[in-house]
Amino acid sequence: MEGRILIVDDDPVVREVLDQIIARVAAQKPDVARDGMEGLQKAQENDYDIIFTDLKMPRLGGMDFLKEIKKIRPDISVVVITGFPTVENAVSAMKEGADDFITKPFSIDAVQNVIGRLQGARKLSRESGGQNLSPESVKRLNSDLFSKIQKINLLHSVSSELDGISSNLEVYEKVVGMTSKLLFAREVSFGIVESGYLKIKKSKGTGESDVPIAGSFLEKVIRNGRHYLAPAGEINPHSGNLLTAPMLSIPFSINGEVYGILSASDKTDGTCFSEDEIGLVLTFAKKVGLRIENNALYDVFYSSMVSALKSLVISIEARDSYTKQHSERVTGYALQIAEVMNLSQEEKDAIGFGGYLHDIGKIGVRDKVLTKPGVLDDDELAEIKLHPIIGDNIMAPLRFLPREKALIRHHHERFDGKGYPDGLAGEQIPIIVRILSVADTYDAMTSVRPYRSAKPHQSAMKELIRCSNTQFDGEVVQAFIRTPAGKGVKLTTP
Ligand SMILES: [Fe+2]
Repeated sequence: MEGRILIVDDDPVVREVLDQIIARVAAQKPDVARDGMEGLQKAQENDYDIIFTDLKMPRLGGMDFLKEIKKIRPDISVVVITGFPTVENAVSAMKEGADDFITKPFSIDAVQNVIGRLQGARKLSRESGGQNLSPESVKRLNSDLFSKIQKINLLHSVSSELDGISSNLEVYEKVVGMTSKLLFAREVSFGIVESGYLKIKKSKGTGESDVPIAGSFLEKVIRNGRHYLAPAGEINPHSGNLLTAPMLSIPFSINGEVYGILSASDKTDGTCFSEDEIGLVLTFAKKVGLRIENNALYDVFYSSMVSALKSLVISIEARDSYTKQHSERVTGYALQIAEVMNLSQEEKDAIGFGGYLHDIGKIGVRDKVLTKPGVLDDDELAEIKLHPIIGDNIMAPLRFLPREKALIRHHHERFDGKGYPDGLAGEQIPIIVRILSVADTYDAMTSVRPYRSAKPHQSAMKELIRCSNTQFDGEVVQAFIRTPAGKGVKLTTP
């Protein structure tokens, strides 16, 4: 049979999907092989035009398979199948002689385009009587491929940038910038669906005012959950005027519910968005959507965890009437110091949460010891001193909160290295911990204890200054002096 196709992949699902797509777009049943060895054997026995091959396979991997095929049958076109994150591999495969590549998950359009392009190239080659093609023909054949590689590389580099972003506002900013680059679009916006409006969060080349959804094609995009390419002449929902160029709108959804829309229009070269370009932005949008969803889930998870752990701390403090609201006050003082010291938002957030939890390990200390009126003996002191380690163990499953965990484990370290449990000194102790330590001691001194009355503000401050650069970081004590609490203003707790 002329123009036969072979699929080489060890994943039966990939083989099956590709098999069905090829059956549809090339009207033939392709052959399949489960790894490079079997592929090589089949290629020697049969006459194929195009081979689709995976890169990671047992026995003979895709790169070696490609090299072997190009040695024995240089006339066969080889298409590399690659996952999105490993697109660099596809580029190296191209250098080794692969003719094209497709990224998983496949779209029918992408497979059809690849087959069409390769068959076109083979036809040209046959017409030239097997002679080498002219440089112009080669250039023409390759220009599509080069722009495809360029775009996919751009897409890959920016989407890996998304990985480190935990704020959705930053994600929206990236989406708009990236879409404008990918589509060469002058007008791009990203908005959130809220109370009948698309509330624009970020835009480029277009207004930022809310867009009414009712009666516009955005209604259709939300209802169908599918992208829509509005032709010139339709009403632009953003401006209310007629569109002078097509506008592409892509929905973002969680659990089937559309919550946001990305819109782009007005290509710099005046052309319409191609199928390829739309496909590329849809892939990108899928990745961005996952990042937004993760961020949202993280926020929900974080706030419910914060309230659960706060109730736990309240129950611990309820055991000991003398430490009531201690954690809350300590957090308040520490946040004031963090403000004066210009700490980052992430560090302030860690204090806001970790400050509440710093004594959570006291849950593992016996009531008898925790609430003992009077001086503790050596054994009791040793038991109390375990609370930072117990707290650290309680938080151990929460691997993603390293700053908060440091607050819990190290809040009894001293600047001179004589504290516990690890004897860290100076800058080995993170700044937020050095801050919490000052706040914690100030509150302990100015609160009533069963065995002593509360120290007045001024003498507590004198004590902090006296212990500067031994127990405490002197800079933190100086910063505390500049806060309202350090000046003697009482902290109001809600
Ligand atoms: Fe403590």
